[in-house]
Amino acid sequence: MRSVLCDLSQVAEGEIREVRLGERVFMVFRYQGHIHVYDAFCTHRRCNLARMGKLDEGKIVCTCHDSEFDAETGKPLSGPSRKPLTKYRSQVEGDKVFLVE
Ligand code: FES
Repeated sequence: MRSVLCDLSQVAEGEIREVRLGERVFMVFRYQGHIHVYDAFCTHRRCNLARMGKLDEGKIVCTCHDSEFDAETGKPLSGPSRKPLTKYRSQVEGDKVFLVE
């Protein structure tokens, strides 16, 4: 099943965008030209990374307690979180970014 998340033109390189789909909240960003879609909530204490996170040289940094995650895989790199972020499959078609489940 595919669901439209947003327009590709709304996702600037290096910026994290919050996208809500029903009750679910995702963070969408473009890193080195590729779109990545994750559950928005940090696996430490659930800060919303679309609001409290930033991208820094290939890492997603949660500014709540400084956990760092690999931007491409969601694996924890440092800080208090030990669990990877939940990553979703996505597709880009035309100017649309789709969530694929
Ligand atoms: S909630 Fe993200 S590091 Fe604590």
